[in-house]
Amino acid sequence: MRTEQQRPWEPASWQGFPAAQQPEWPDPLEMENVLTELRAVPPLVFAGEARSLQSSLAEVARGDAFLLQAGDCAEAFGDFSANAIRDKLKIILQMAVVLTYAAGLPVVKVGRIAGQFAKPRTSPNERLHDVELPSFRGHAVNDAAFDAESRTADPHRLMRAYHQSAATLNLIRAFTKGGFADLNQTHMWNQEFVAGSKQGQRYEAMARQIDRALRFMAACGVDLARDPVLHEVDFYISHEALLLGYEEALTRQDSLTDDWYDCSAHLLWVGERTRQVDAAHVEFLSGIKNPVGVKVGPLASADEVIALCDRLDPTNEPGRLTFIARMGAEQVTEVLPALVRAVSKEGRTVVWACDPMHANTFTTSTGVKTRRFDDILTELRGFFSVCQQEGAPPGGVHLELTQEDVTECLGGSEEILDTHLHEKYLALCDPRLNARQSLDLAFQLGEMLQES
Ligand code: PEP
Ligand code: CO
Repeated sequence: MRTEQQRPWEPASWQGFPAAQQPEWPDPLEMENVLTELRAVPPLVFAGEARSLQSSLAEVARGDAFLLQAGDCAEAFGDFSANAIRDKLKIILQMAVVLTYAAGLPVVKVGRIAGQFAKPRTSPNERLHDVELPSFRGHAVNDAAFDAESRTADPHRLMRAYHQSAATLNLIRAFTKGGFADLNQTHMWNQEFVAGSKQGQRYEAMARQIDRALRFMAACGVDLARDPVLHEVDFYISHEALLLGYEEALTRQDSLTDDWYDCSAHLLWVGERTRQVDAAHVEFLSGIKNPVGVKVGPLASADEVIALCDRLDPTNEPGRLTFIARMGAEQVTEVLPALVRAVSKEGRTVVWACDPMHANTFTTSTGVKTRRFDDILTELRGFFSVCQQEGAPPGGVHLELTQEDVTECLGGSEEILDTHLHEKYLALCDPRLNARQSLDLAFQLGEMLQES
């Protein structure tokens, strides 16, 4: 760990620490050239936006707002179109409006989008029959196809990830500020394949009530046209800060405050595999001023969590640090209470969010990676009850979902069964909720929020 005598933090200081999950780039010189290019490109976000997100997260930490962080496990180079971006935004906006309506709380919207291109892997290699190849590490590194060329890490992919992130964010900004996210448009966010379902109809009914409420306010003389909060949405982007060379290259000094911000996203998190307190990823996050997240799994101890608070948020700034608990449906009520209690006992203000996806993944007898909708709900319920019991606000959720009509997660009211999984399984990495399941989840989550 850094001691007082050591040099102050700089974007490259992580290089003096052990860095897990970094790909083997075959040609270091080629990699260096790409990083030089990345150091010169414009930032994707600017410091003021990261500060706004942090103040919204401070409200979440106080229990005055709720965090909805959602998107793909891994974004894909091949899944890059205006329609895909628009429809992903639709489902997140739908979920947010359902939650706002149910809980009467503002919802802070953060996508796993516009940069979520790198994946940590349990094993560095993958074996199929007699062939062993490097694991797929996300489109910023290599390709998922199982052949030697596809699996070789290619630094030019970092540049492509940057450009795809820029174009994605550009469209997100246009949609969220240019009228698409207007509260008068709630009906438009219901995709066709969702609209006919039970939850799609429930959503329509809610959207009609919102219309009535807006007409009522207008009739009372409120000038709705002039109030930007009804017509625009703040939508933030986030990804796992995994490839530290890329993150370092996009880290810039803010001219107003002289602080360093990782301008590849508003919020960066470290995953369950890279959250060691004295290693490179946490070192990197410790010096950037963006709000940061840490995934915590069932093996995390109270001491580790407190050490992460000390390291990442030494001045206890509300909104700076979000713990994303991913404990599993069975373990959440056993493991999480001690962590929440330890953090409260230290007088720390953090956001507690629940990722009910990653500890509920399993492989079926036919070899398909999936998750059960019911396990996801059970973990969420467990999370809410732990927060209530420990007197901490249930701050938010972290979900893997897609706008598409996929069959990747089991169950939900449309009852996706084992035998359906092969029908439309498009995930590059982990199985995602489809848009119907996501809306279904939002309604159930709304009820949990209401009860809490
Ligand atoms: C992920 O968020 O896709 C992920 C790999 O999560 P975790 O670090 O919690 O396993
Ligand atoms: Co995942």
